[in-house]
Amino acid sequence: MENFQFHNPVQLVFGRGQLEKLPKLIPDGVERVLVVYGGGSIKRNGIYSNVMKKLENYEVFELAGVEPNPRITTVNRGADLCKQHNIDFILAVGGGSVIDCTKSIAVGAKYDGDAWDLVTRKVQAPGGLPFGTVLTAAATGSEMNRGSVITNWETNEKYGWGSQYTWPLFSILDPVHTYSVPREQTVYGIVDMMSHILEDYFHKPTNAPVQDRMAEGILRTIIETAPKLLKNLESYEYRETIMYAGTLALNGFLQMGYRGDWATHNIEHAVSAVYDIPHAGGLAILFPNWMEHNLHVHTERFKQMAVRVLGVDPTGKSDEQVGQEGIDRLRKFWTALGAPTRLADYDIDDSQLDVMVEKAMANGPFGNFRTLHEEDVHAILSKSL
Ligand code: NZQ
Ligand code: ZN
Repeated sequence: MENFQFHNPVQLVFGRGQLEKLPKLIPDGVERVLVVYGGGSIKRNGIYSNVMKKLENYEVFELAGVEPNPRITTVNRGADLCKQHNIDFILAVGGGSVIDCTKSIAVGAKYDGDAWDLVTRKVQAPGGLPFGTVLTAAATGSEMNRGSVITNWETNEKYGWGSQYTWPLFSILDPVHTYSVPREQTVYGIVDMMSHILEDYFHKPTNAPVQDRMAEGILRTIIETAPKLLKNLESYEYRETIMYAGTLALNGFLQMGYRGDWATHNIEHAVSAVYDIPHAGGLAILFPNWMEHNLHVHTERFKQMAVRVLGVDPTGKSDEQVGQEGIDRLRKFWTALGAPTRLADYDIDDSQLDVMVEKAMANGPFGNFRTLHEEDVHAILSKSL
């Protein structure tokens, strides 16, 4: 393993009815709370009114309408609200987009300028308002990490960033809150969390058998649970398993002792910066093609995934054949759930191919398992069309 330090300060409050704890989780002395949410799902499923009841002892302000793939314009609007009303605590109620937006608002509230400067790391985070989250969709792991992914439609850029001020103080995870997530969105969440585990799974050879088995165990559990959940979207048991898996997939527990690859996420963010598509829809298309592009590099890693995660029988096959069979099975699994396989499924053709390549290459060659150059990104995207 490489040397590492681990720190994750998020207080995770998991389980049925845990919204009860909200008033106790908000720090003493807070008077004015900004509640941030998305396009209205929380009003339809009742979470909004339950949250508001718990906030009756505070002066409450609202920022509604955070978009999937949250925009810098919304972040700036939220930061202005905080300054204008002297907000002292922010509560995100929603999925990854609402939480990511809240993280950037929390720091934007302490910065006198365009919050895009923070996202692009032009300036260092000067501080941040404390914030908590009530998670309503299992997918990104944003509830227990410090990442915030924001899109700028003026410049067609989508970047992730984070700082010591973008850790949630607490996150309330009640699986019941995810019952109303539609089937398609549930599939996206499953693909996203699996992709997070896979991004880390593909690291350069190092002695990490504990991490490998943890990653494989969670992937296998998701593969077993996902089809059952899709048949019964209101199963507490299956929602609970998937919610916990999504948090573990990106809260740092699986990332100790090596650097994961993360090239596929970078390419997906470049696609999403040009076309407003669901993050995990892009991943479902790109990841198997990234794998095929790299199958010949450290082939044993692909073989291990095929055998241990996807149950491929290696008898009488070359390592490369086994690896390819694993990739085929993964693609088939995602397709069977209903995930897209080609960018054409989102009406994306080759007209912006060079632009997407350029966006992905904005910070130079990338990928820790295998460094990708312009021609690699071009090949992976071309194959994905
Ligand atoms: O906006 P509302 O009305 O709330 O509806 C949302 C939205 O339309 C809906 N939804 C959420 N909870 C629901 C629900 N509908 C019914 N019932 C509920 N309980 O789901 C739709 C998608 O929500 P969104 O938050 O956009 O999805 P997700 O959680 O997948 O977040 C995606 C964003 O996170 C970023 C992605 O790039 C994308 O912008 N990521 C953030 C990461 C992080 N912070 O660590 C890592 C990821 O790799 C990812 O890049
Ligand atoms: Zn992701």
